[in-house]
Amino acid sequence: MKPPTMLRLPNDADNVEHYAALREEASVHRVVLPEGPPVWLVTRYDDVRAGLRDERLSSDPRLLSSPKHKFGGRRIPEDMLSSTGRHMLNTDGAEHRRLRALVNAELSSGAVTRWRAGIERVVGEHLDRLAELSRQAGDEPVDLMSGFADPLPASVIGMVVGIDPDRWPDVARLVRHLLSDEHPASPEMVDSYHELIDLIVATVERKRTDPGDDLISALLSAPEPTGLRDLLSTVMALLIGGPPTTATAMSHGTVVLSSRPDLLKRALADDTEVATTVEELLRHHPPFPFANWRFATEDVELGGVTIPKDATVLLALAAANRDPRAYADPDAVCPHREHEPTHLAFGSGTHRCIGAWLARMELAVALPALFRRFPRLSLATPADELVWTAAVFDRRLESLPVWLHGSPR
Ligand code: HEM
Repeated sequence: MKPPTMLRLPNDADNVEHYAALREEASVHRVVLPEGPPVWLVTRYDDVRAGLRDERLSSDPRLLSSPKHKFGGRRIPEDMLSSTGRHMLNTDGAEHRRLRALVNAELSSGAVTRWRAGIERVVGEHLDRLAELSRQAGDEPVDLMSGFADPLPASVIGMVVGIDPDRWPDVARLVRHLLSDEHPASPEMVDSYHELIDLIVATVERKRTDPGDDLISALLSAPEPTGLRDLLSTVMALLIGGPPTTATAMSHGTVVLSSRPDLLKRALADDTEVATTVEELLRHHPPFPFANWRFATEDVELGGVTIPKDATVLLALAAANRDPRAYADPDAVCPHREHEPTHLAFGSGTHRCIGAWLARMELAVALPALFRRFPRLSLATPADELVWTAAVFDRRLESLPVWLHGSPR
């Protein structure tokens, strides 16, 4: 029997329903992606978490029996995450531990607090820009996606890494393009890839003679200075991993908080409440609906199903985060789920998100700042009519039209 095709739906409620139906039918499915290749999809919380922590499900496509695998020449899984050089996301074992160790300490929960003041400043600048865009739009709503949620995280990671502020908009543009559905070998994608590499190399060269309080300078001045190859792959992983996910979390948070005065009031009350709210928003709508590709290095049993050696596996973080076996009333946004398991929006196990603490802090600063600055912010398009892109790794709002000062009509 032909396996079912995994749908990607631009309407969020349809999408949630589609994956909920798959999850309730069975935890593990053999499915085909819209582009064609067959994959094994894992949907229930316990199995997704177990899959994330199972080292037989590798992130390294080189461990497959045939390096070309059955996807040869196609977009999936030869995308930015699995094809461009060796970096944290596509290595395992000792090589992965070595790459993570380069920046792990700099991105710990304690270490990221040194970026807080800088993030507050950058958020303020982006809010000024948003206000100006709204003024220019006159009677029309302003797009919070392109005007705030997208550029802000690119600026923050640019600041952390040490990229010149003039180039932060380029980071936003290039990362967005590189994660799009366009074929990775298209001339435009290759150009964007080279432009981003050039930008990182130029930054590294500048930091060699003019170091600052940033990650590249820290890596260059370590007792064993990081080589250019590792610097490139690490900075690239941070630039690709950070901005799109944080932007999606920001926009989802705005959608929810703008229609839930009770949550907003609590989130604005104090830092602990903001942190709890951010965590629940991430559970409710994880920006990466799936973890990065995993490849079975041997037969692996999961959810009572044997996933065969060499299979490609998609661990559905979004479906798991709404699993009623793990969460009471999973579709509701309901902070204070102390007695329920940790959500999987940042993954779990050795590849868990290395930027999680930075992302948490950025969201905890930016969401309250947005609503304090524009207390009458409201959606110009009802939440259930918003259009989501449907790429595998980068599910995000196409746009988020808002009124900053309440609807004029
Ligand atoms: C709300 C924002 C974010 C979300 C939801 C998110 C989500 C994730 C997830 C689910 C993974 C695990 C992927 C897997 O197991 O296949 C991951 C890994 C990663 N994330 Fe994030 N991320 C966010 C923000 C960031 C930021 C701000 C950075 C950069 C500072 C970042 C950099 C990375 C990197 C480099 C990895 C790979 C880690 C590894 O493979 O060892 N992420 N992220």
